[in-house]
Amino acid sequence: MTTDGNRIALVTGATGGLGTHMVKRLLDDGFTVVANYRSPEKAEAWQSNMSQEGYTPHLYRADVSDYQQVGDMIRRIEQDLGSVDVLVNNAGITRDGSFKKMSYENWDRVMRANLYSVFNCCRHVINRMIEHQYGRIINISSVNGQRAQFGQVNYAAAKAGMHGFTKTLAIEVARKGITVNTISPGYIATDMVMAVDEKVREQIIQGIPVGRLGGTEEIAHLVSFLASSECGFITGANYAINGGQHVY
Ligand code: CAA
Repeated sequence: MTTDGNRIALVTGATGGLGTHMVKRLLDDGFTVVANYRSPEKAEAWQSNMSQEGYTPHLYRADVSDYQQVGDMIRRIEQDLGSVDVLVNNAGITRDGSFKKMSYENWDRVMRANLYSVFNCCRHVINRMIEHQYGRIINISSVNGQRAQFGQVNYAAAKAGMHGFTKTLAIEVARKGITVNTISPGYIATDMVMAVDEKVREQIIQGIPVGRLGGTEEIAHLVSFLASSECGFITGANYAINGGQHVY
């Protein structure tokens, strides 16, 4: 058991490709893990698969793009388990398409799910973290928030917005024992990336110097590192993990 054994970690969008491995890794590290989900049908099957593998996270439903729902979820977690020590803002969606055809709805939904969600979750946990003089906030951005990607004006804007959010919140809470960092994954072998047209995807992989898609466990490894109590001096940072696709 690590020194983080009694700490509570909340992973949003936990039932997705990246989230699943984050939950497993944080449980392996000894955290009590809260897995946030939106779709009950998906969550039911997910929970059953996880328990067959010996993983028992606590599941809590909320649409993280909805400020009220997040507030209700955090209150329930606090009543049932205690306050959140580690928050991983992982939930995210894509609605790709060239800008000339992008609907307001696809802009709005991506901004709400990918950026407003970060505000909603951080806002509802930060005062307790300040009270306890401890916290780890990890925002999952994207290589496409650092560079351009054809067809992702909405997604790139939301993911780039996370960097400004992370850096500013990091300095505001730096003296309260709370760190705030961003991870920017490149193309990882998840359903989200596999949904990209195969020809386009193959071209993208050719542009990755490591020569392959990343593994979900590779992102989970970095989350585990930043979530640990030993990482108190790393804050306001952005960790690129993209196989060399974007170096700067
Ligand atoms: N670069 C340059 N030009 C491109 C292009 C590209 N990547 N893709 C399309 N075009 C051109 C076409 O050749 C065509 O040109 P003409 O008009 O001269 O014929 C035009 O753009 C097509 O425009 P459309 O309006 O028809 O494009 P579209 O609405 O069909 O969208 C797209 C194209 C589906 C968005 C396609 O570009 C695409 O799949 N892009 C990849 C998106 C992507 O990488 N998404 C990542 C999802 S996973 C993720 O986001 C996780 C993460 O964090 C990394």
